[in-house]
Amino acid sequence: MIHLEGISKYWDKSANAEGSERVWGLRDVDLDIARGEFVTIMGPSGSGKSTLLQILGLLDLPSEGKFSLEGQDVMGLSDKELARVRNRFFGFVFQSFHLLPELNALENVELPMTYAGIPAKQRSERAGELLEKVGLGHRLTHHPRAMSGGEQQRVAIARALANDPGFLFADEPTGNLPSETGRQIMDIIRDLNAEGMTIIMVTHDDNLGKLGSRRLRLADGRILG
Ligand SMILES: Nc1ncnc2c1ncn2[C@@H]1O[C@H](COP(=O)(O)OP(=O)(O)OP(=O)(O)O)[C@@H](O)[C@H]1O
Ligand SMILES: [Mg+2]
Repeated sequence: MIHLEGISKYWDKSANAEGSERVWGLRDVDLDIARGEFVTIMGPSGSGKSTLLQILGLLDLPSEGKFSLEGQDVMGLSDKELARVRNRFFGFVFQSFHLLPELNALENVELPMTYAGIPAKQRSERAGELLEKVGLGHRLTHHPRAMSGGEQQRVAIARALANDPGFLFADEPTGNLPSETGRQIMDIIRDLNAEGMTIIMVTHDDNLGKLGSRRLRLADGRILG
C-alpha cells in the first residue's frame, strides 16, 4: 500500500528584487491507498491533481513529507532505484498517450520489459498477449501515426501492464478521446480493477469520478473532506 503523510510540493521561482516566489502544488496531504482500490481524483484546474498523481507514481518527489510503499520509505531512494520501482510496480497512462512514434505497437509494449531485462522472445510473446487483451491483436505492427486515438491509448495501457504492475496511474486517460472510445478505455480500466489492480485516476468528468470506489476532491493543493 501507499502511505503519504504531510506531503507538500512547491517550486521556488527564480529570485528577483523581492526574493523568490513560492508556487504550491500540494499542501500537507495525508493519504493511504490500499491494494485493490479504485481511487478517482477530481478538482478544478490547477488544484494539484496531476502533481498528486506524479508524486504518488514517484515521477516526482515531494518537497516535504513522508512516503512509504509497502512499508518501505521511498524518499531516500536514488533516481536509479526510483526508476526501478516505477518500472516494476507502477504502470502509467496519460491523456496524450506518450507512445514512441518510431516504434510499432509491439515494440512500444516491449519497452518496459526491455528495461526490466526480460529476454526478447518472452517480451514479444507477452507484448502480443497484452495487445490481444486490449483488443488490438490485429494492430501489432502498426505505428502510432497509423492508429486512432483510442487504439493508441489501448497500446499505452498494454505498455503500462507490461511488467504486471500492482498499480495503474491514469491522468485524464479519456481526455483526448471521443465519448464512445473513452467508454471502451474505461471498460478496460474497470476490468483491470476487477482483476485486482489498484487504479488511481485523475478526471475532470463527474461521471468517471463516480466510478471510483474512493473519490478524492482537491482544492488549492489540499484534499477536501
Ligand atoms: N513544474 C512546475 N513548476 C511550477 N509550478 C508547477 C509545476 N507543476 C505544477 N505547477 C503548479 O502547481 C499547481 C497544480 O498544478 P497541477 O498540474 O497539479 O494541476 P491540475 O489539477 O492537474 O490541473 P489541470 O486540471 O489543469 O490539469 C498549479 O498552480 C501549477 O501551476
Ligand atoms: Mg492536470
